[in-house]
Order: sequence, then structure tokens, then C-alpha cells
Amino acid sequence: MAILVAGGAGYIGSHVCKILYKKGYEVVVYDNLSRGYREFAKWGEFIPGDIGDVRLLDNIFKHYKIDAVMHFCAFIEVAESVVDPQKYYENNVGNTLKLLEAMRQNNVNKFIFSSTAAVYGIPEKIPIKEDDRKMPINPYGKSKLMVEHILEDYDKAYGLNSICFRYFNAAGADPDGEIGEAHQPETHLIPLILDAALGKRDSIKIFGTDYNTKDGTCIRDFVHVNDLAEAHVRGLEYLLDGGETNYFNLGSGEGYSVREVIETVKKVTKKDFRVVEADRRPGDPAYLVADSTKAKEILGWKTKYSLDEIILTAWKWHSRIGESWQYWRG
Ligand code: NAD
Ligand code: UFG
Repeated sequence: MAILVAGGAGYIGSHVCKILYKKGYEVVVYDNLSRGYREFAKWGEFIPGDIGDVRLLDNIFKHYKIDAVMHFCAFIEVAESVVDPQKYYENNVGNTLKLLEAMRQNNVNKFIFSSTAAVYGIPEKIPIKEDDRKMPINPYGKSKLMVEHILEDYDKAYGLNSICFRYFNAAGADPDGEIGEAHQPETHLIPLILDAALGKRDSIKIFGTDYNTKDGTCIRDFVHVNDLAEAHVRGLEYLLDGGETNYFNLGSGEGYSVREVIETVKKVTKKDFRVVEADRRPGDPAYLVADSTKAKEILGWKTKYSLDEIILTAWKWHSRIGESWQYWRG
């Protein structure tokens, strides 16, 4: 069974490749390395390329007899998407259409898409269920919702069976310490706190302490990257068994405040560092917590990693890469 993993040299995609490969799938990693790392693409065959390159994709589909595609490619910085929406719609929507077209030309009709909790915007209620209102508040979230709509139409018109996985806050790293989170630039909370713990930053800023939450800081639902990877394997099996197009929230169902995450990092790493209270970051919802009952009922999926384990695995990776130049974020 051959799986094309587009964006497989990135953070989440590489963890999925490792697990697919270990389960015996033939993995073809496809990535233009605009954000990923060649060193992360070591499970399966790596082919450098852009998802906008329909000719190259066509050759790959024919040569490897691809059965299903997992699509992780995107630009992912919410703030950048507000100032440069063209870049986001072009890559996240325009290039996705090219990938889908190459699939259609080769009769590949199983597709797993990395969507996001950002499609919900400011949620009306917590925890969030799949059918709740979707009103994204930035071009990044809109680009993901547009692809979800496109996939509905492609199912009706072309028989493309897809899964949209709406990840909540992906975090943690490979427990073996081989791969981890190294976005450039990094905007995510946990790796930034770990940088403060390592002394690579002089402090961590809390964006907003006046939210209507238990301690005034935002609440998020952190889900370990290997739990996400396990969901992808189950999603793939579901599609290969003839499962119909579907949507799943992937989160732990537990909400932690920014302050709680900082305290947990201090506890797990045994490091102290400066914490600075700052203004709210525009566009942050106060609460984002998933109801993942649907993934449990249909895919038999649930999270295995606690927040402590998420932070411990991330810390192991972060401390190991230490001074490695290629992951240095400055
Ligand atoms: P990432 O940037 O580490 O990985 C994305 C990979 O896609 C990179 O390796 C990049 O080089 C590649 N890529 C981008 N555009 C490409 C193109 N046109 N052609 C070929 N390769 C291309 O990001 P990530 O954190 O691993 O996120 C993976 C997916 O999950 C994204 O679609 C993102 O929107 C989604 N997601 C991530 C989070 C999170 O917390 N990290 C949360 C929700 C959703
Ligand atoms: N935060 C800080 N200080 C920092 C960085 C972040 O206080 O230095 C706060 C943010 O303001 C937010 C929380 O920590 O309240 C989490 O922020 P992240 O940037 O780590 O994550 P987001 O919740 O903003 O977004 C992430 C992904 C999105 C996805 C979303 C779904 O980047 O793609 O999770 O929950 F849509």
C-alpha cells in the first residue's frame, strides 16, 4: 500500500511518516523544503517537489501506484496570513487544487487533509463539536475551510473520499528524540517556552492576562503529535475500508491556560525563567477545546499523551538539538 505524504518533511508530516513506515506502509515523502527539513524525511523515499507541480506529481502517481494521499503542505502563520493573504490562498488553496487535479488524473480517490481548529473562529460554545458554526477570523483559517468545501464538491462530482482532521494545538515530539517541532519562525507557545528554559530567549511573554478565564490567560487543547499520527493511520484504514468523506476534531478535550503550560514547563524541565505579561495578541480566541467524541466513536481514536508527556518529549528534542545550527531560530 503506497501513501504519498505531501509536506512529510515538516513537523506533523514527519511524525506521521515515521509511524506509517513502522506499520509497513510504503511511504513516499514529497516536500519542497520551504519549511521542512531534509533530515526529517528519512522514513520512506524522499522526492523534493512542489504540490503545484502537476507534471512531477503525475509521474510519481504513475511510478509508485499511489493508493492514498495525506496532505500536510501549507503556510501556517496566522498573523502573516492577515498581512499577506495572497501567499496563503495561493499555497493553501491554489496549490491544493493542483495536487487534487494530479490525483484526479490518476484516479487516486483517498485523501487526508490537515485542517485546523481555526476554521471555527471564535467558538459559540466549548467543547467544540464538528457541526458547530465555522466562521474563521483570519485568512489562514479561511484557506483551510475553503479546502474543506472544495473536498465536499469533489466527493459529489468525482467520488473523492476524504477526511479533514481539524487539529487543535499540536505539540510534543517523537519520544525517541529523532524529530520535533522546529518552525521558522516559531510562533507556538510550547517551543517558545522551551527556548526560554534553555536560555535561548530572555523570557516568555504571556499574550493577554485579562481574558474571561480561570486565570485570565487563554485556554488551549494540546494534542501530542504522535496522537495525531495515530489518528492518520486510523483515518487511512477507515478510507481504505470504504469509509465516506468525514470530518474529525483532534484534541484531548482538556483545556490548559497559558499560565498552566508555563508552570508545567518549569516543573518538567526543572528550569526557571522570566515570564512577562504582555498585551493580547490580535485574533486569539479565549477558549479552544475540542470535543473529539466523533473520532473516538468512528475511528476508535483517543489521546494517550498527557500535557506533562507532551512537554517532556518536546523538551527531550529541544535539549538534544541544542546548538544545531539548522534549527537555530535566533
Ligand atoms: P510545517 O510547516 O512544519 O510542515 C508543512 C510542510 O509542508 C513543510 O515541510 C513545507 O516545506 C511543506 N510545504 C509547504 N508548502 C508546500 C508546497 N507548495 N509544496 C510542497 N511542500 C510544501 O507545518 P506543521 O506544523 O507540520 O503543519 C502541518 C499541517 O497541519 C499544515 O497544513 C497546518 O496548517 C496544519 N495544522 C498545524 C497545526 C499546528 O499546531 N502545527 C494546527 C492545526 C493545523
Ligand atoms: N502565546 C503566548 N505567548 C507566546 C506564544 C503564544 O502567550 O509567546 C499564547 C497565545 O496568545 C495563545 C496560546 O499561547 O493564547 C497558544 O498560541 P499558539 O500560537 O501556540 O497556538 P494557537 O492556539 O494560536 O494556534 C495553533 C495553530 C493553529 C491552529 C490552532 C488551533 O498555530 O494553526 O492552534 O487551536 F489553528
